[in-house]
Amino acid sequence: MRRTLTPDPNATAELIRRRCPLVPTVGLVLGSGFARLAETVTPVAEFAFRDLPGFPVGSVPGHQPRLLLGHWQQTTVAVLRGRAHYYEGFELSEITFPIRVLAALGISQLLLTNAAGAINRRYRPGDFMVLSDHINGLGANPLRGPVREGQQRFVDLTQVYDPELQHRLLRSAQAVGARVHSGVYLAVSGPSYETPAEIRAFRRWGADAVGMSTVPEAIVARQCGLQVAGLSCLTNAAAGLGGPQQTVSHEEVLAMARAREQVATQLVGTFLTTGP
Ligand code: HPA
Repeated sequence: MRRTLTPDPNATAELIRRRCPLVPTVGLVLGSGFARLAETVTPVAEFAFRDLPGFPVGSVPGHQPRLLLGHWQQTTVAVLRGRAHYYEGFELSEITFPIRVLAALGISQLLLTNAAGAINRRYRPGDFMVLSDHINGLGANPLRGPVREGQQRFVDLTQVYDPELQHRLLRSAQAVGARVHSGVYLAVSGPSYETPAEIRAFRRWGADAVGMSTVPEAIVARQCGLQVAGLSCLTNAAAGLGGPQQTVSHEEVLAMARAREQVATQLVGTFLTTGP
């Protein structure tokens, strides 16, 4: 078991600051179907994860995630374009390290986006869901292990997703004409998709959608005192809900995420412009 602290997020933040003094106010994590938002940001500096000490470096060539600092109209933003996942073999502390760095850079609000499977029968593929709460089904917690001085170990998660940000996301979705719901996101480790029996069980738990990310980042963001918002693009009916012929595939998830990318970009853009 590892008991050593991960690299110091303040040290990585300092390294970034030396190359780019921009102080971001809003952090964005762009999951499947949201990556195009990065193209609407006026960049000031960009870093590959592999050049940033402590950032998780994936194994898929050509899919290296990047940190982008810049302006979205009047708002200064820090964008994580792509993320590392638990199913790739990283520790949860590694996956969430970039969130700690964004907090050290000065963000006060964080929007986490993802693709998810719809468990709630009223949801349709292509709809969006604003996270009202989550269920951590990963069987692990990113705060496990040593705590840095000044940080809380026993973090309160009564209100993970900020009510005002939830409201703003819902209004933004309506403004761009997207079908949107407010619901509970369940994180599973993956990478296999779920069985129909699991999905039936998850519905009884109170989950409305299922995915393989977001929850560890939200937990760490709350430890860092950030206001957090979560937004899912519902790419598919969860296993067993799409009729007798249905299977769930990564290709289907990516295809729907891509089909909704333009609306997703407009939605998040509206969210940013209607910010405080
Ligand atoms: N299950 C888990 N993760 C997902 C799904 C799903 O059905 N769709 C997109 N991400």
